[in-house]
Amino acid sequence: MIPYFTRDIVSHFFHYHSNYDMPVIQLKNLSKTYTSDAIEVHAVRNVTLNFGEGEFTAIAGASGSGKTTLLNMIGGIDTPSTGEVWVGPKNIGAMNDKERTAFRRDTIGFVFQSYNLLPVLTAAENVGFIMELQKRPKRETEERSFELLSAIGLSDKLNVRPNKLSGGQQQRVAVARALAHRPKFVIADEPTANLDSASAAGLLDMMQMLNRTEGITFIFSTHDQRVIDRAQRVITFGDGQVQNDEQHDETRNLPQ
Ligand SMILES: Nc1ncnc2c1ncn2[C@@H]1O[C@H](COP(=O)(O)OP(=O)(O)OP(=O)(O)O)[C@@H](O)[C@H]1O
Ligand SMILES: [Mg+2]
Repeated sequence: MIPYFTRDIVSHFFHYHSNYDMPVIQLKNLSKTYTSDAIEVHAVRNVTLNFGEGEFTAIAGASGSGKTTLLNMIGGIDTPSTGEVWVGPKNIGAMNDKERTAFRRDTIGFVFQSYNLLPVLTAAENVGFIMELQKRPKRETEERSFELLSAIGLSDKLNVRPNKLSGGQQQRVAVARALAHRPKFVIADEPTANLDSASAAGLLDMMQMLNRTEGITFIFSTHDQRVIDRAQRVITFGDGQVQNDEQHDETRNLPQ
């Protein structure tokens, strides 16, 4: 297991009181239709959903059911064909390009399935990358990188480049990078897809700890039943629509 600094101490000092009733993300009649070779694919069909502050939500569903398309629209990476995405009081669709870029940088953390770490930067520089784009003080950025990499058991890899890290270590760095600037929410597209079960459990521990201690809202897609079992809310997608949306007992998803 990864040696985290203990959850109890962190919770004691930083415990974040989330308010699950207040939606931070609202999807209103959201649809996405792709047209390729004159064939229309209805990837997401008229989805209306709310996500509350501090939620830890899995989007499950078969391959091709529309999970990635949905996450990309929530994050402003892809544009809806119809419908709206609201984050707090802001309609992402009504933003101009500059506003949308700043919004993506400051409010959202992304974890892609393929890590997307920058190969020329060290682990610490990758984690601090977004803070650097935000022109935050160097010292604050370095301290935050160190804090997060230590929290995920990689304090001895600060100056190592991604090609010298295992897949699981790279994915943990990718999650740390998504979180470093304390975004309001983190979107992760199949974050455990390339990991063995021990690494997947470690990554989930880390995401849960940060959800609980920093109040970050997590929305992640997954095929993995073990990951689904640890979510607080599970939304099952099928054919571009929500087929099931259920809350799970919160006590069962505590890190082991
Ligand atoms: N850029 C695109 N152009 C055309 N069709 C697309 C495009 N992206 C996705 N699709 C189609 O939209 C549907 C939903 O795809 P999406 O990637 O959202 O599914 P998914 O649930 O994430 O699947 P997986 O579990 O395999 O990642 C699929 O039928 C897919 O072929
Ligand atoms: Mg996908």
